[in-house]
Amino acid sequence: MSALHTQGHVYLIGAGPGDPDLLTVRALRLIQQAEIVVHDRLVSPQIMALIPPEAQLIDVGKAPDRHPFPQPNINALLVSLAMRGQKVVRLKGGDPYMFGRGSEEVAELRDAGISHTVVPGITSAQGIACSTGVPLTHRGLATGVRFVTGHCRAGHELDLDWDGLTHTETTLVIYMGRGQAGPISARLMAAGRASSTPVMLVVDGTRATEERHFTTLAEMAEVASRLDAHRPTLIVIGDVVALADDLATPVARPLSQVRHA
Ligand SMILES: C[S@@+](CC[C@H](N)C(=O)[O-])C[C@H]1O[C@@H](n2cnc3c(N)ncnc32)[C@H](O)[C@@H]1O
Repeated sequence: MSALHTQGHVYLIGAGPGDPDLLTVRALRLIQQAEIVVHDRLVSPQIMALIPPEAQLIDVGKAPDRHPFPQPNINALLVSLAMRGQKVVRLKGGDPYMFGRGSEEVAELRDAGISHTVVPGITSAQGIACSTGVPLTHRGLATGVRFVTGHCRAGHELDLDWDGLTHTETTLVIYMGRGQAGPISARLMAAGRASSTPVMLVVDGTRATEERHFTTLAEMAEVASRLDAHRPTLIVIGDVVALADDLATPVARPLSQVRHA
């Protein structure tokens, strides 16, 4: 038997932004059959509750002020579990390939010759677009969308293509941007984006605890400074924010109610 047959398998699964109804069918099936789960902090409690109680859980979550499990250790953990013949569910928030370092984990698995499957998840920007009624593109308002990270390494300045982000008809979605909201808004305005540009900050998007905060580019940093650093926040900048729908709801209703509504 080849080495591959004696090894386990790693399922790198996107858990979406939090609402369990937003899991793919494949993700749900694999989560419900899991024997060992290596999970991130952003996987919601409702999704964690779908894991069989007898499964082993390994929390490798990073928090803004806590990095107990550096990425190389996570990569090494996945390889060693699979080498022992385990079928491992690696559960990540949103989509594994959207600011999720999923491709780094896959590169390590590939180098070690370990078979793996990547299951896409709904990225938080997509979930939030629908839960708030703010489309990412809209004819006449936004011809494109840019997904950028607001995260910067300690001691480094945020290095984004500021001039490329100023086009009025480009929606900007900023992941991990709450703590850098001041420099981000200052740099965007300095590059020419209007201070009156509408901004939406969404905390716990798609979850029952979802909060939406509406402001402008000029006021964005002040609003961000009042938000809880331990809850995920996504920032959406652009004229599409004006389309926010008060009636859009993040909470999925039971199917029976939807059918008889
Ligand atoms: C490390 S990135 C992971 C992104 C994830 N892979 C995705 O596709 O959504 C974490 C950031 O995603 C955003 N995020 C993830 N889930 C969110 C949610 N439910 N509500 C708001 N923002 C969320 C926040 O900006 C958070 O800081």
